[in-house]
Amino acid sequence: MYPIKRNRRLRTNEAIRSLVRETIISPNDFLVPLFVVEGKGVKDEIPSMPNYYRLSIDTLQKEVKELWSLGLKSVLLFVKVDDKLKDNKGTEALNPNGLMQRSIKAVKDACPGMLVMTDVALDPFSCYGHDGIVENGIILNDESSEVLAKMALSHAKAGADFIAPSDMNDGRTLQIRQLLEQEGFKNTGIMAYTAKYASSFYGPFRDALDSAPVDLVDVPKDKKTYQMDYGNRIEAVRETLIDIEEGADIVMVKPGLCYLDIVRDIKNKVDVPIAVYQVSGEYSMLKAAAEKGWLDHDAVMMEQVTAIKRAGADIIASYFAKDVVKIING
Ligand code: PBG
Repeated sequence: MYPIKRNRRLRTNEAIRSLVRETIISPNDFLVPLFVVEGKGVKDEIPSMPNYYRLSIDTLQKEVKELWSLGLKSVLLFVKVDDKLKDNKGTEALNPNGLMQRSIKAVKDACPGMLVMTDVALDPFSCYGHDGIVENGIILNDESSEVLAKMALSHAKAGADFIAPSDMNDGRTLQIRQLLEQEGFKNTGIMAYTAKYASSFYGPFRDALDSAPVDLVDVPKDKKTYQMDYGNRIEAVRETLIDIEEGADIVMVKPGLCYLDIVRDIKNKVDVPIAVYQVSGEYSMLKAAAEKGWLDHDAVMMEQVTAIKRAGADIIASYFAKDVVKIING
């Protein structure tokens, strides 16, 4: 008999293909990153991220209502603060009336059911653009983690449901968990960026928040002493196991597409939900290629998010979330 097996029977038409499809994307898969700025009525397109915007608090409230109506129920907040408010210790990050703290409340006011996750890292508040305190050319680990824990507590007090430390300092998940417990925030969760690589795909994000490391003597030009080396795979599992031990409820791999082997490795080793961050550079690459007419935007987008889920992602943080859901919803 030839061929021995006719696998094409299961691909004959869309009905049978959809019947046997292993990975299906739904609005429930997505976490929507949002950038907040001061002001009123602001909807400011980020030049290197076409169709993605910095929003003032009032426009943020409109946006989250729209997301909710599309079935998107979780957001990840980032803020862009004025240069004047930046210092080496991220002092402004702890301001109980700071932009992040007000944004959290505003989202909850506009849309009480919306799950609010907040970015915890010093870079948007650092005059040096680093995720920790800089001293003599070094990013201090323990001192930075202490500030991050206070920052997390301040977000929890403002009403954040989940804290998302994106800095990659050692021990910060434990510091955050302990402080939250001490202060009675037992139910505030932690989504820890556990395998976050020193990637060149973050460029457009740093444009969005004006948070790139500054070019000064004694300030490291990159984040390679804390973010992971992209040649490493086993280390990602090690990082993840430690973060879970320290109290992470959700772990994260970042960026997405180039790191799907890592997602699968971690998926095979741990039993907590895994988030994957499809980062700004991944978004911008597709937008640029589509603008040139070189790639079919929607088709490639759906292929990418499906691949991320197929690799083992339980949660996808993506700037494409709205576009994807509009396609799913028809
Ligand atoms: C920094 C942070 C970065 C991103 C999320 N949090 C950039 C960086 O590490 O420099 C990148 C997200 C993206 O590129 O979409 N704490």
